Amino acid sequence: MLDKFLWVGFPYTALTLAVVVSILRFVWKPFSYSSLSSQFLENKQLFWGSGLWHWGILWVLTGHIVAFLCPKQILAWNSAPFRLYLLETSGLIMALLALVGVVALMVRRGTSSRVKAVTTPMDWVLLALLLLQVTTGIDTALRYRWGSSWYASNAAPYLWSLLTLGPRPELIQPLPWLPKIHILSGFTLILLIPFTRLVHFLVVPIFYYWRKPQVVIWNRKGLR
Ligand code: HEM
Repeated sequence: MLDKFLWVGFPYTALTLAVVVSILRFVWKPFSYSSLSSQFLENKQLFWGSGLWHWGILWVLTGHIVAFLCPKQILAWNSAPFRLYLLETSGLIMALLALVGVVALMVRRGTSSRVKAVTTPMDWVLLALLLLQVTTGIDTALRYRWGSSWYASNAAPYLWSLLTLGPRPELIQPLPWLPKIHILSGFTLILLIPFTRLVHFLVVPIFYYWRKPQVVIWNRKGLR
């Protein structure tokens, strides 16, 4: 019963809420789709924290998505030890960058008085969950080798089974608790997307590359 809830009920609830509330938020509050930048309040720590975090996590996420889309190719790639070590080591390095980044972002929010003033409890919940996600991912990678192979053989088919509405929780049940916590906190993060500043990554501003440059000026009396 608990297993059914954890690996079927909860993932579907998280995915449904994420999609529905993200659409509603986009329709009702389009201007709230933002990371609510605090760069103008503090820039130095943000440069390192945000830079390391985004570089690390975007590569790690890309790895998860590629292995989800092409599990057979990943297993074929991993069949040569050198290629397996290359993939695992580069994934681990990127995850470590993300770990240093998220810790730096937390230190920044806890120490800069200006950033503290605009930090909400939800920001802390999000950063704590991201920290949990990255640490359980790194710990899983170090303890249960080789993650990229068993992700392709167990986790990817499980995720596909959810997507094709034929859930197969038996693929996750035999896993140890550590990767299970990693998967559950992943679904919790998906659930939180529309309720936190995480919503910003649904609207990647790629049009910045081709739009005309804009000059931003203060429009308050005496500042022009
Ligand atoms: C898809 C590409 C992405 C872009 C272009 C992007 C861009 C940004 C920008 C501009 C900020 C604001 C930094 C500031 O000025 O305060 C930010 C903050 C943040 N991003 Fe992203 N992001 C992306 C993906 C992600 C992903 C995938 C995650 C997590 C899984 C993430 C998590 C965060 C968090 C937690 C913050 C807040 C950091 C803080 O202020 O404490 N981002 N992002």
